Amino acid sequence: MTEFRLHLLKWLSLLGTLATLGVILLGAWTRLMDAGLGCPDWPGCYGRLVVPDAATAAAHSPQAPLEALKAWVEMIHRYVASTLGLVVLALVALGAGARRRPGYPWHLSLALLGAILLQGAFGAFTVTLKLWPQVVTLHLLGGIGVLLLFLWVHLRLRELVAAKPPASRRRLSPLWGLAAVLLVGQLALGGWVSSNYAGIACQGFPTCNGQWWPATDWSEGFHLTQTVGPNYLHGQLHADARTAIHLGHRLGALALGLGLVLLARREWRRPPLRPWLMGLLGLYGVQFTLGVANVLWWLPLGLALAHTGGAVALTLALALGAWQASRVGNARQASEKEMAHA
Ligand code: HEM
Repeated sequence: MTEFRLHLLKWLSLLGTLATLGVILLGAWTRLMDAGLGCPDWPGCYGRLVVPDAATAAAHSPQAPLEALKAWVEMIHRYVASTLGLVVLALVALGAGARRRPGYPWHLSLALLGAILLQGAFGAFTVTLKLWPQVVTLHLLGGIGVLLLFLWVHLRLRELVAAKPPASRRRLSPLWGLAAVLLVGQLALGGWVSSNYAGIACQGFPTCNGQWWPATDWSEGFHLTQTVGPNYLHGQLHADARTAIHLGHRLGALALGLGLVLLARREWRRPPLRPWLMGLLGLYGVQFTLGVANVLWWLPLGLALAHTGGAVALTLALALGAWQASRVGNARQASEKEMAHA
C-alpha cells in the first residue's frame, strides 16, 4: 500500500468521525422536532427517495398525513447517515490492501462496518416500531459507538503514518474502566429520559417538583421489556414512572461526577495528563449545567441539542484521555531502554 493511500485513509477516518458527530446531532434534532415518524416507512419516504407531495403521500399511507417539514427533517438525517455508510465502505475497500500490514486497524474497520450496518437496522426499527424507547436509546448508544470506532481507527492510522511503534502500551488504571462504565450508563439513562419524554417530569433543581424525594414508580419507569404502544411519540408512561427515570438520570450524573473526580485524583501525578483531566472535568461541569438549564427552561431546542453535543464531547474527551494515558510515559520508557542498551 502506498503512503499516499495511508494518508488518504487517515483523513477519511477523521472525516467519518466528524460526520458521525453531525449525524448524532441530526438524530437529536429529528427527535426534538418530533419528526422521527415524519416518514411512516423506511428506507423511502411514503415509498419515494425524496419527500413527495401531499396527494402522493396520501395515496401511499392514508393513515399518516404528510407534514412536509417533519418528513424533510427525517429524510435529511437518513441522507447524511447513508453518506456516512459510504464513507465506512470506502474505508474498508481502500484499506483491504493493507490488512496484513503490522499495526493496520483492519479488525477495527470491520467492526465499524458491522456497527454501521446495525445502526441502519436500528434506524429502520425506530420507524417501524414507532419510536419504541428501547430502540431509540440503543440507536443513540450505537451512534456513539460508531463515533468511537471511527476515532479509534483514526488514532491508529495517525500512529501508523507517523511510523510510531504500536507496541509498549501502558496499562490503564481500572478507574478509566469505571469512568467508562459510568459514562455509558449515564448516556443510556439520558437516552431513556429523552425517548420516554421524561425531560420535564422533574421541575426545578436541585429539588424535583418541589420535593427532595417525590413520588416515583421505578419498576414501571425501568420496565425494560414493556410494550406500551402503539405509537411512542410524546411517551406513554404515567407521571411517577417518568419522575423515576428523570431522577435516575440525575443520580447517574452524580455517580459519573464522583467517578471522574476519583480518576483525576489518581492520574494527577502524571503531569502530561493534567490538561486532559482538567478538560474532562470542565466538560462534565458544562454538561451538568446544560442539563440543569434544560430542566429550568423546559428543553428549548438549542439547549437540548447542546446537551446531546455535550454528552458526545464528554465521551470523546474520555476516549482521548484514555488513549493519551495509555501512551504517555512510553517516550520515557523508550529512552530508558535505549540507555540500557547503550
Ligand atoms: C453530566 C453528565 C450528563 C450526561 C453525560 C448526560 C447525558 C444525556 C444524554 C446522552 C441525553 C440524551 C440526549 C438525546 O437523546 O439526544 C440526556 C438527556 C437529558 N438530560 Fe442529561 N446528562 C447529564 C447530566 C444531566 C443533568 C445533571 C440533568 C438535569 C439535572 C440532565 C437532564 C437531561 C434532560 C432533561 C434530558 C432530556 C433531553 C431531551 O429530551 O432532549 N442531564 N442527557
